Amino acid sequence: MSRPAVYIETFGCQMNELDSELVRGQLASLGYRFVQTPDEARVVLYNTCSVRDLAEQKVRSRLGEMHLRKQGESALVVGVLGCMAERDGEDLIRRMPVVDVLCGPGELDKLPALLDNAVRTKRSLAAERAPKSARQVALQGNASRRSSTLAAAEDNLELLDLSRSISPTDHAGSSYVRITRGCNKFCTYCVVPFTRGAETHRPPDHIIDECKRLADAGVIEVTLLGQTVNHYRFEHGSAVTVNDVIQPQKGRSYKGGHRRDPFSGTQVTTFADLLVRIHEEVPGIQRLRFVTSYPRDFGDDALEAMRNHPRMCRYLHVPAQTGSNALLARMNRGYTVEQYLEFVDRARSILDEPEKGRPLTIAGDIIVGFCGETEEDHELTKRLLQRVRYKNCFIFKYSPRPGTVAYDKLADDVPDTVKRRRNNELLAVQQELSQEVGREQIGRTFDVFIEGVSAREARQRSKLATGNSPTLTVGGQPIGSNGRPAEQTVSREPARSVQLTGRTDGDLIVHFEAGGQAPDDLIGRIAPVRIISASGLSLFGELEPDGRSI
Ligand code: SAH
Ligand code: SF4
Ligand code: F3S
Repeated sequence: MSRPAVYIETFGCQMNELDSELVRGQLASLGYRFVQTPDEARVVLYNTCSVRDLAEQKVRSRLGEMHLRKQGESALVVGVLGCMAERDGEDLIRRMPVVDVLCGPGELDKLPALLDNAVRTKRSLAAERAPKSARQVALQGNASRRSSTLAAAEDNLELLDLSRSISPTDHAGSSYVRITRGCNKFCTYCVVPFTRGAETHRPPDHIIDECKRLADAGVIEVTLLGQTVNHYRFEHGSAVTVNDVIQPQKGRSYKGGHRRDPFSGTQVTTFADLLVRIHEEVPGIQRLRFVTSYPRDFGDDALEAMRNHPRMCRYLHVPAQTGSNALLARMNRGYTVEQYLEFVDRARSILDEPEKGRPLTIAGDIIVGFCGETEEDHELTKRLLQRVRYKNCFIFKYSPRPGTVAYDKLADDVPDTVKRRRNNELLAVQQELSQEVGREQIGRTFDVFIEGVSAREARQRSKLATGNSPTLTVGGQPIGSNGRPAEQTVSREPARSVQLTGRTDGDLIVHFEAGGQAPDDLIGRIAPVRIISASGLSLFGELEPDGRSI
């Protein structure tokens, strides 16, 4: 039986991007073909996010479109995967009958069977041989927290990661690797512990093997993923093996705050140990970073591992959420502003070496307008931004999520107009700071991982392709896009230099001209670029003439 064409759209965080990649690999190995637009597909999958209502709204609107399409195309199979499937569960199917397949993020290993059933049932329905429902559902509920009874069961989700198909052509030199799943923090506003289940750590050998396979396929940058990634800790003494496969391990009640894990070494693979092992055992990975860090439990051992190993990126994404101790307590974040700042200062004292071209850059997240937030709290958050000087900070308006403690117990009492105003104020403060951080980089030389042509270049190319623009440049700048009058045009020659974009190991975006070099020889490589100007978060530089790319 031939497999139908599949389209998958991904919403939400990097964890979802990785899940979609794994799902694509798994379905492709079974003969499903992937297409670029939903119109070409007979199976349309949405890998969803539930972290804010806005994320869910986007999916609801896509489902509305599919509902219309299904009126004339009953064979269409629509699947909702990911966190929204898990959070909204079967209610979603009741309200949205267009959905045929519902599969939570903890059940993705079951997706092929669900899809196969859905497709077969549709075919039988078409031949009027089956009952009217084609629905297929796999949700975890709260099974992942029933650890004692399930401790010896095979973790099928691990098999999904282990069977990851890695081909040299389906990555652009950079990949994600999951090290920790789920979350045990239960911040009062957050759905993730409910949708992703209990904190679970993958066996270190599985992670190393995956990194090696990626490096062999040409990946030079790996980002390790976890909701509280620095909680990674694998206790070898209590490891369980099922069918000869070491199983992932539930996070133990973990009292953080340690500076060094005394059990590091043979008994326990700590987060620091894991970083060092990957660095030493997989030298093909030129850049190793990780997201997202939980500020309280970050040991000096991990910071020193970052400092002592040159291919470790000097980058931390470590959300504070607010600058007010009252709100941190209400959010159940488990640390104070003072403890957060102690961590930031400690990280900078160990890792910030701008004179060596290795400044530490820090990114953050803030929730604005959380329950009971006063003007004073808001001012404290501004002060926190100014004190930390993030390279960039994601600022989110608080969105009450059903099922969370805040939704049930705390009033969402900051009016939306106030949330919006405070959001804009924080954005303005952060923009100023990002600009300052950008300007500080001028004159420094960074190794830049070159990702591709810049957005400006891509726009210019698409204009050329549609014949809307002459091939004119002024110093590599397409005429018109910068509003320069035609008299300033220096020549009517074809564009010679291509603008490329890449990132420093601290995740700063750098644009530069390829100059005499062929862009294809540079893309996917790391090369030194000297920064000559900065605008907002973007840096502009020049390739070092005698710099060799890796
Ligand atoms: N595990 C990470 C973050 C995961 S969710 C951490 O703890 O830092 C990503 C971000 O979404 C969070 O950092 C938070 O800033 C934001 N977020 C989570 N729940 C939210 C909600 N209900 N409303 C608004 N923003 C939220
Ligand atoms: Fe959500 Fe808090 Fe867990 Fe992050 S640490 S995923 S914000 S519960
Ligand atoms: Fe969203 Fe789930 Fe990630 S809620 S942020 S997709 S863990």
